[in-house]
Amino acid sequence: MAEEAEKSIRVRKMFGAIAGRYDFLNHFLSANFDRFWRQACVREVAKRLPSGISRIVDVGCGTADLSLAFSGMGPVFGCDFCQPMLRIGAEKVSKKHIHPISLLGADALALPFFSESFDVAVSAFVLRNLSDMDQGLREMRRILRPGGVLGILDFGIPQNSMMAGLYRFYFQKILPKLGNLISGVNGPYGYLPNSVESFPPAGELKRMIEDAGFRDVEYRLLTGGVAVLLVASC
Ligand SMILES: C[S@@+](CC[C@H](N)C(=O)[O-])C[C@H]1O[C@@H](n2cnc3c(N)ncnc32)[C@H](O)[C@@H]1O
Repeated sequence: MAEEAEKSIRVRKMFGAIAGRYDFLNHFLSANFDRFWRQACVREVAKRLPSGISRIVDVGCGTADLSLAFSGMGPVFGCDFCQPMLRIGAEKVSKKHIHPISLLGADALALPFFSESFDVAVSAFVLRNLSDMDQGLREMRRILRPGGVLGILDFGIPQNSMMAGLYRFYFQKILPKLGNLISGVNGPYGYLPNSVESFPPAGELKRMIEDAGFRDVEYRLLTGGVAVLLVASC
């Protein structure tokens, strides 16, 4: 328990320290692929929903890029436990959105929403940061109505061994140095490759999502497996 609380505090502090440079670094270090992955998430989730307006929750919304990407589908509630990330997100959503986006401080492990109150729950690059991934998935399941859709986006490791080698070289040798240099903070961009290496592969994530009570879990490897997108229904 103390270990879990310690991880939460560490993660929150880390994102607080880099919040001001997070968006720039996200787009720069992923060569803008992150935008394409978020759009892929919107498309795959939308395929499972009837047309019309949906109520969406973006768990660990950070600076609200995924909330913005989903705001064409209906009102979005973005929640995150790091206030500096939310503040940057709030500036962005005040400028452009289609349906309303509300951002609030909340812990992904104890979401402040009634059960079965959303049509869609999405979360990008968050799961591997949680001190209890199963609890995070159970919370998203709890707040989704029957027939609701889950969309999870995160980093993976490419399956092709040559690409995996290049990717590991970039992730372990280049990205931490660039990240530390640009963010001006030592540490967070060294944590990223470690957290990705210890993150379960797509097949195992699929099983975890099923164990949390979802059905029809499908996954797609994006950009050769650099990112993985999982979609499931309730
Ligand atoms: C890598 S960022 C991703 C942000 C955003 N989803 C995106 O796509 O850019 C991870 C975010 O998850 C948030 N986070 C991590 N653990 C959390 C928790 N237990 N509850 C709420 N937010 C959490 C962090 O504060 C951070 O903003």
